[in-house]
Amino acid sequence: MSTPDAGLFDKIVNLSKRRGIVYPSAEIYGGFRSTYDYGPIGVLMLRNVKDAWWRSMVQMRQDVVGLDASILSPPAIWEASGHLSNFSDPLVDCRNCGARHREDKLKKPDQCPTCGVSGQLTEARQFNLMFKTAAGPVEGTGAEVFLRPETAQGMFINYANVQYTSRKKPPFGIAQIGKSFRNEITPGNFVFRTREFEQMEMEYFVPPEDSAQWYEYWCETRMQWYMDHGMSADLLRLRQHEEDELSHYASATADVEFLFPWGWDELEGISNRGDFDLTQHAKASGAKLEFYDQVSKERYTPHVIEPAAGATRTMMAFLMAAYDEEQVNDDTRTVLRLHHRIAPYKVAVLPLSKKPELSGPATELANQLSGTWMCDYDQTQAIGKRYRRQDEIGTPFCVTYDFDTLDDQAVTIRERDSMEQVRVPLTEVHAWLAQRLSA
Ligand code: GAP
Repeated sequence: MSTPDAGLFDKIVNLSKRRGIVYPSAEIYGGFRSTYDYGPIGVLMLRNVKDAWWRSMVQMRQDVVGLDASILSPPAIWEASGHLSNFSDPLVDCRNCGARHREDKLKKPDQCPTCGVSGQLTEARQFNLMFKTAAGPVEGTGAEVFLRPETAQGMFINYANVQYTSRKKPPFGIAQIGKSFRNEITPGNFVFRTREFEQMEMEYFVPPEDSAQWYEYWCETRMQWYMDHGMSADLLRLRQHEEDELSHYASATADVEFLFPWGWDELEGISNRGDFDLTQHAKASGAKLEFYDQVSKERYTPHVIEPAAGATRTMMAFLMAAYDEEQVNDDTRTVLRLHHRIAPYKVAVLPLSKKPELSGPATELANQLSGTWMCDYDQTQAIGKRYRRQDEIGTPFCVTYDFDTLDDQAVTIRERDSMEQVRVPLTEVHAWLAQRLSA
């Protein structure tokens, strides 16, 4: 069983800043707490996390279709979903230092974690996590709107549209990736808990009698997804929620938990939401949100199993799972052992020298490979340094174009994890990489 690596947190934050993975937002203005910007490497990696999820959850399944619903939404949705009355955390203020905390996250029930003083916390009050704004140009007369706190409701309110246009029948799912916003009381742990984040959610509509079986299926399938993308099993566990932990809509929930540097914490929640959402929206809107089975001549409200993951949080977990330092001769090599589907760049082309006889054809090769994969090109500094730079951002393969290439029309391909090098004819480079990057 693995133990948390407390030092890993700072290493990831530093690497992220240094290599353009994640920057603190609005840094030139002193920073804007709890928001982050994804840099040139981070934007690739985040996109790959989302693409890998979409590939498994939509592309490779005939029973799931996609959706991209709006972020701005009218209060009616959140009244019906229960978020206006239930989506809140218990907030306590410290009378001594003024800090605010989530009561359910306090290590000692009566002690302020900021100043350490006991007995100065106020009674808890419920703090709604939704961001509210006004739509319309006239000050003071705008209609009240909310930024969605989850992508899920987009799937419920479009259930009838999607079911009708895609001609799917239960069991079928609607998947969505997109931004959500929560006015978290205690954002923190880097991108683990932020006020603006991205979710990857799927609502799977099933006949009511099959919901328990599909709940099991999605718990297993989602756990497997993380392992299939390179996370080792000892960094993952599935934890079933106790009765008193369940959200207002769920009859069962399991969290996929990851061993973060501070201990086990949630990566994804899989919930059996029953018919709660469709029933609530049907009641509130008057729309019929049912399914009529032509064969059995039965009409029913489907039950819903929901695997709900955070894209930004998952990216951070992938970074932590992949981070490694190893001793190579007298040097410490930092390497991100990322699955190739998650790695920001799949390949880098490195001419041994900047001289035009090498840099010209090497650039041409990089341009060619870029048609298929994100391909980096780097001709500055010694080749050893360039390998290390690619290791640090997890590039699985480096292609070195050297002076021999001019004679033998072959290049050296170095593999990131083993550092093994093979000579491959130029005409075979694309096929060689394709074989290894398609699995
Ligand atoms: N529709 C159900 C739902 O939204 P959730 O457990 O509140 O469930 C799902 O959120 C996932 O979204 C979480 O497991 C987490 O990965 C991510 N998430 C939630 N709040 C977050 C936040 N403040 N910052 C980053 N990720 C967050």
